[in-house]
Amino acid sequence: MITCGIVGVTGYAGMELLKLIGKHPEFTLVRAMSDSSTGLTLAQLYPWLEIEDLTLEPFRVDALDDIDVIFLATPSGVSAHYVTQLTEYEGVVIDLSGDLRLPASSYETWYGKPAVPASLQAQAVYGLTEWNRDAVRSANWIANPGCYATAVALGLLPFVNGGWIDPNEIIVSACSGITGAGKGLSAKTHHARSNENVQLYKIHTHQHIPEIEQTLYAVSGTQATVSLSTHLLPINRGIMATMSVVPTLEQSEADWVDALRQAYADEPFIRVQQGEPEIRTAVGSNYCDLWVYLDQRTNRLTIISVIDNMQKGAAGQAIQNANVRFGLNETAGLNEQPQYI
Ligand SMILES: NC(=O)c1ccc[n+]([C@@H]2O[C@H](COP(=O)([O-])OP(=O)(O)OC[C@H]3O[C@@H](n4cnc5c(N)ncnc54)[C@H](OP(=O)(O)O)[C@@H]3O)[C@@H](O)[C@H]2O)c1
Repeated sequence: MITCGIVGVTGYAGMELLKLIGKHPEFTLVRAMSDSSTGLTLAQLYPWLEIEDLTLEPFRVDALDDIDVIFLATPSGVSAHYVTQLTEYEGVVIDLSGDLRLPASSYETWYGKPAVPASLQAQAVYGLTEWNRDAVRSANWIANPGCYATAVALGLLPFVNGGWIDPNEIIVSACSGITGAGKGLSAKTHHARSNENVQLYKIHTHQHIPEIEQTLYAVSGTQATVSLSTHLLPINRGIMATMSVVPTLEQSEADWVDALRQAYADEPFIRVQQGEPEIRTAVGSNYCDLWVYLDQRTNRLTIISVIDNMQKGAAGQAIQNANVRFGLNETAGLNEQPQYI
């Protein structure tokens, strides 16, 4: 069995990792690490989960020798604190925060906090599995992508990479369930304010904007600019990103659907759908569902991408990356169906 540790096990992404590792045929959790709740047991914390019981312990770098892979499910800035202590660690580090995703100057501009040393960030491979699988296979440090960044990049990449759209005419409107903000309560996420409401936030300043542009460039060599608006929805989980772009090729809607299908033909977690998009087709699973429509009147394409923010947008993709890194079947432990009603 491949031994795992989770740091930040009391958070939303930490709990999702627990569930996925608990059902995984090849992974076993041997260390549950927590800053706030050391001494509690997993059974006390999550009595409804059928998982191996462990006592939560503080992070100690000298106690990681028996761990093959450590998942950092901690906020940006906090992961940085752990990452700098892991330079001698010989296992695999998968960080779910933004701390290893961007070079220092971009990180400090968009996150407004000090970046990890450039030499550490440079070691990390960006874990958008479908587009960086070969690098993930041999990576010891993996920067797991952000939730909006995953949904948007998976939708745009075939089109930008193929040169099928104008890279300077990309407008994205995306919305997320409340769990995307983590378990900490804020005025915005308080039930009284978020329920029966839709809130636009971080207008044109969301930290996933540079991550998306960087990914589009890394894969395609095309410098694209993305205008992204992010909204908070009064639902628990799920992301829907609606992308409006200008095609550079004249072809029918059926041809666009076909092109998207071909781009992802061998991908177990990417499904090209038809009909009216809805968030529930992916929520609860590691799928990314994509749709593409041609608006002939305005000559624009509308691409829609739907994921579960805590699965494909966080813990699911982290497990997918770990599967690739350890040479396992990429879908191992990730066979949950969407919670569609
Ligand atoms: N939620 C999502 O949909 C999602 C999607 C993609 C990526 N992510 C990323 O995954 C990471 C975890 O997200 P999350 O939603 O699970 O967050 P969360 O619910 O707020 O949990 C974060 C956990 O980190 C630990 N922590 C340690 N120091 C902390 C500090 N100073 N402030 C707050 N928490 C601290 C806490 O666990 P202990 O006390 O047990 O250590 C806390 O429960 C973040 O970097 C987030 O950006 C989340």
